Amino acid sequence: MKQDTRKILVTSALPYANGPIHIGHLVEYIQTDIWVRFHKLRGHECLYVCADDAHGTPIMLRAEKENITPEELISRTLEAHKRDFNDFHVDFDNFYTTHSDENRELCTYIYEKLKAQGHINQKTIEQFYDPVKEMFLPDRFIRGECPYCHTLDQYGDQCESCNRTYTPTDLINPVSAISGSTPIRKESVHFFFNLPDFESMLKLWTRENLQKEIANKLDEWFSAGLQPWDISRDKPYFGFEIPDEPGKYFYVWLDAPIGYFASLKNLCERKGLDFDAFIKLDSEYEMYHFIGKDIMYFHALFWPAMLEGSGLRKPNNVFVHGFLTVNGQKMSKSRGTFINARTYLDFLGPEYLRYYFAAKLDQYVDDIDLNFEDFIFRINSDLVGKVINIASRCAGFINKRFDGKLASDLADPGLYEKIGGEVISEKIAKLYESREYSKAMREIMLLADEVNQYIDIHKPWVIAKQDGKDKELQEICTMGLNCYRLLVTYLKPVLPALASDSEAFLNIEPLQWNDISKPLLSHQINKFKPLMTRVEKEKVEAMIQASKESLQSTTSEEISNQVSGHLNDTPLADEISIDDFSKIDLRVAKIIAAEHVEGADKLLQLTLDIGGETRNVFAGIKADYNPEELTGKLTVMVANLAPRKMRFGISEGMVLAAGGNGNIYILSPDDGAEPGMRIK
Ligand code: 2FM
Ligand code: ZN
Repeated sequence: MKQDTRKILVTSALPYANGPIHIGHLVEYIQTDIWVRFHKLRGHECLYVCADDAHGTPIMLRAEKENITPEELISRTLEAHKRDFNDFHVDFDNFYTTHSDENRELCTYIYEKLKAQGHINQKTIEQFYDPVKEMFLPDRFIRGECPYCHTLDQYGDQCESCNRTYTPTDLINPVSAISGSTPIRKESVHFFFNLPDFESMLKLWTRENLQKEIANKLDEWFSAGLQPWDISRDKPYFGFEIPDEPGKYFYVWLDAPIGYFASLKNLCERKGLDFDAFIKLDSEYEMYHFIGKDIMYFHALFWPAMLEGSGLRKPNNVFVHGFLTVNGQKMSKSRGTFINARTYLDFLGPEYLRYYFAAKLDQYVDDIDLNFEDFIFRINSDLVGKVINIASRCAGFINKRFDGKLASDLADPGLYEKIGGEVISEKIAKLYESREYSKAMREIMLLADEVNQYIDIHKPWVIAKQDGKDKELQEICTMGLNCYRLLVTYLKPVLPALASDSEAFLNIEPLQWNDISKPLLSHQINKFKPLMTRVEKEKVEAMIQASKESLQSTTSEEISNQVSGHLNDTPLADEISIDDFSKIDLRVAKIIAAEHVEGADKLLQLTLDIGGETRNVFAGIKADYNPEELTGKLTVMVANLAPRKMRFGISEGMVLAAGGNGNIYILSPDDGAEPGMRIK
């Protein structure tokens, strides 16, 4: 069906410039890339821009620790990110950086407009300040005792044990994670963007533009009340200094979304395109942002409000996806399921993952799961067993018996219509358009089943042995290869490399959605080479093993955007005497039961045997351990800790564990230790 050409601008969220791309990130880039490729394949004008998110305290500190400048760090990361995206066939029209002249210019423009319209206010606020490092401390760089459940070593904004949120000044015995010093309270002037000015516009815009599921979520935020947004940070900071406000910088989240436009501006300048045509109020370009569910507030409230306040166009929609779990659980370094893009590519082909994600993704916000058994099964069964199988069953006969020449007639025009006619192709197109990729993949695989049935019924391998059946053989195989071409066209947004290899094999111009109605007849094809091989279980296992090894040698901060170095994170505590230590009664404990706690995101309930007596302990290890893997294990507990009343019951001690924040390792004694033995 001929459609009017649409003009579309698409973005994915900007990855931070201090950590590698991992498979969790890839859900979004692959989802977006498929959508963009689909629109290009349909003949629309579609631009896909992105950039590294290069500013902020974590990047500044990370560079400092590595003894390089932030500029060096972000340029090194930019190259690595570009390589990873390229090798996953994520085809940005431009991948830029927020640390650019274009972004500085646009931030200044937007800020000045907001200020002129009276949307920027100043307020003196009190924050924690590290007197040794001489800087204000972001929440995640302050650690201390939870004011509610008294778990030690918690972040400044939320307790990982009881999950309660608070402000850093509520922490008991707060410590700077940077220098180890005790932070002091200090006042400073901050700049605020007055979000409440935009409440009525936002209520209308979210209802008119966003999916119902998202708009409902936003309603909760509207009910809670919109607050002015703190958009400034004091020096030292890596970012853009606010015009005429020495020592004050734009907070990274202010300049990040503007980075979408900066990347586009850079592209427009290079390509001679009219940048203003994209960003002006009555722009004829549609604009869509693909994001994860954790950054909805920024994209559905702050960003449209900033655009409105500066007289620029707003997005047509914000497409929100869920997170990736692996084998049913949060990605975990200790389990080897926190897999970097590069580690994956060292073992497996990018299109396997592209197809697998496509087979799982829909338009909703639910998390998607990568289950490796299912992954192997799906790729081998769908792609290799169904789609590629069609080509390999037919190509050999055409190559060997007919010098690569296809027949002049289609053996079964009815089947061709069923696989490539407007009814089915528009159905699949609608599914792509609405990001219902899993349904699209299912439709395509049903079509592949039909083509395989056609081949099963006509048995070219039998006919090939019969005299006088050459024409029939050529026509059946021509039919098969024409259907293969249709299926590859449908799959092209997901599997661009397979499509390009298939185009070379079929000796045709790049496939376009609208070209498929005309079959290939009396056409010369090239020699067939295997287009995709099966996924081997051993490769998947080796990849998981390599992830375990590489991530054990990498600090978690490289991935999670924090300062590096465990000592840096949690500096050594004050010296104690042996007498102090002997007050702590550490015992070998056997975990005799481990269970989930209803309503607790992070806790497991453990029953511990300490040599004849049992203790009930709530441990914040749910993200890293399954209850099943703990039962029967020996560990170490603090047995004389005063019982603590928690939301879910009384905790009678503490299990010893290293690490934190999704990367926890509980301690085990060596073989031979028995429950109840004292540790000295
Ligand atoms: O959450 C993140 O990873 C941010 N770096 C995303 C920024 S998206 C946009 F607003 F720039
Ligand atoms: Zn707590």
